[in-house]
Amino acid sequence: MMTSTNRSKLAIYPGSFDPITHGHLSLVERATKLFDRVVVAVAASAGKEPFFTHDERIQLVRQSIDEKPYATQVEVIGFSGLLADLATELNAAAIIRGLRAISDFEYEFQMALMNRKLARTVETVFLMPALSWVYLSSTIVKDVATHGGDVSELVPAVVWQAMCDKIAARKT
Ligand code: PNS
Repeated sequence: MMTSTNRSKLAIYPGSFDPITHGHLSLVERATKLFDRVVVAVAASAGKEPFFTHDERIQLVRQSIDEKPYATQVEVIGFSGLLADLATELNAAAIIRGLRAISDFEYEFQMALMNRKLARTVETVFLMPALSWVYLSSTIVKDVATHGGDVSELVPAVVWQAMCDKIAARKT
């Protein structure tokens, strides 16, 4: 597993990634420009009824990043337990979170302050996705797809295929 040394700065980008979208990927790419290495940490818990299992979410994140030019800087892991503990264990310099709109702010602010209390040396760094993805959320993507809508332009091709397969399997 990657750990940060004095010479390289590591950031953790945590999330449920249920599923990963182009908005998330936009943040991963931005984070690789600021940090030497980025660990995308897929949380085991993802709300009451996750669309994809933990293993499926990890695989889809890996496959979505694999072909990207910045892939060599990125590691994808699963985690359970406290994010602050993982950040400390990896000696991370920062936790990356996305901010799309003011409505994201309150929850993110609470989380950042709590994580700072739990892991004093780790800063939360907020990044904004590319403008084309500011309206995008995994929740909306899932809702549209399960009601028959086409979200193929909003998620990596591998994710769209997996969503179609899952929705078709549910119908049989
Ligand atoms: O993609 P999400 O659902 O917004 O990600 C939320 C996530 C996974 C980052 C958050 O729930 C989390 O950090 N979970 C791990 C448990 C934890 O540390 N909880 C306290 C956060 S202050």
